[in-house]
Amino acid sequence: MPVAAERRPAPRERRIRLLGDALGSSAEAHERRLLAAARPALPVLLWLGQRARPLLKVPGLGWITADPVAARRILQDAGRTTLLEEGGVGHLWAQVLGDWVLELFDGPGHLDLRTRSKGLFTDASSERLVAEAWGGLLDRARERLEAGEELDVAELARTLVGRMVVELLGMPETDDEGCRQVFHVGEELAATALGSTADTHLSPAAIARAREIVERLTAGVPEGYRSAPADTVLGRCREMGLSLQQTRGLATLLMVAGTETAASAMGRMAALLIDTGEQHRLLAEPGLREGAVRETLRVASPAPLIGRAISADLELDGRTLRAGERVLVLTWTANNAAGPFRVDRPYSPHHRQLWFGAGRHLCLGAPLARAELGAMLDVLLGDGRPIEVVRRVPGRRVLIPAYASLVVRKAP
Ligand code: HEM
Repeated sequence: MPVAAERRPAPRERRIRLLGDALGSSAEAHERRLLAAARPALPVLLWLGQRARPLLKVPGLGWITADPVAARRILQDAGRTTLLEEGGVGHLWAQVLGDWVLELFDGPGHLDLRTRSKGLFTDASSERLVAEAWGGLLDRARERLEAGEELDVAELARTLVGRMVVELLGMPETDDEGCRQVFHVGEELAATALGSTADTHLSPAAIARAREIVERLTAGVPEGYRSAPADTVLGRCREMGLSLQQTRGLATLLMVAGTETAASAMGRMAALLIDTGEQHRLLAEPGLREGAVRETLRVASPAPLIGRAISADLELDGRTLRAGERVLVLTWTANNAAGPFRVDRPYSPHHRQLWFGAGRHLCLGAPLARAELGAMLDVLLGDGRPIEVVRRVPGRRVLIPAYASLVVRKAP
């Protein structure tokens, strides 16, 4: 893929570059540059979040919090918070997918879905899924890197994630380019949510476009649900007693929740390991592999914000969040307060795994995301030799901050 074509940057892009130059070249600066390129207001909001411990009310936005304990209390309070009303992703997706979302994304229908889909992704089944779906692609990437060639980790991540969507949604087999197309279509769908930080109402045109994408991406689900073997995800949905509509809803959720986030994390893991020099600690102590994955998820926090609507008055740290108000949990700020990226950082019971949310919507694909990151780590450092960045380009105007391109090679 051509990287960083030479052209005169647009004024907005120039401003982002100037900001990037001012930030410097540390790992933290690269991360902030990524946030700014994705959504220019994001670094400001996440910085403002440092004052939101435990809570801060921001005009036009509602409540924000970057306190892990307050965040968990909000996300776990099923009786007083919802994602179905204005301010929650359920409100957004109900406009696209239809009223059945109101049944499945929250409340009793969601509880039933989560109860039935418990165990859909375990550590063991996720490792297997990654090996089956990605084995060939990973081997090829590793061989190239170890032979001294350059590797665009961001592009590889998009190919891999597209391949996983093909697998999960029972789509027809396709080549690498086809997998990237699938990723981009998913990305386009997720972009429906761009600009929804302050308002989750969508325009009729955005609704029509998103509906068309969902139809296309989930077209293979009914057939997969009927005939896929029980050891596939669609087959397991059937065996677990999920209805076809629940399975289709879940497939859509997997697509919007598990594509950009996972690709973002893979690229940022490579950059963080190199930029912080922590790759050397990991190479010296391979037993820290799990710590490297956990630290990537904490520091990158690919889902930097989680929105909820308040459905009934909620008392929190001496403040009252009123029914009808909104609250944004700033996961990136909360998680990064624990300190810089260190692969030997011990598990923090305070943060637990806030990067995957908390409570009834805790990421269903967390074991899969961890397995995916572990597999990428083996590609990058599996031969015991360090890597270096050749060049990088941040993704612009994307929902989830991510590298558009991150070219690495084995260090001399
Ligand atoms: C690094 C990668 C990932 C991150 C950081 C991440 C993060 C999150 C977060 C923060 C939530 C909670 C959202 C909320 O409370 O509103 C969530 C939900 C979810 N995630 Fe992930 N996710 C990742 C990967 C995946 C993958 C690979 C899948 C599956 C293919 C997946 C499937 C889901 C689903 C289905 C939900 C919705 C759960 C529900 O509403 O009950 N995620 N994810």
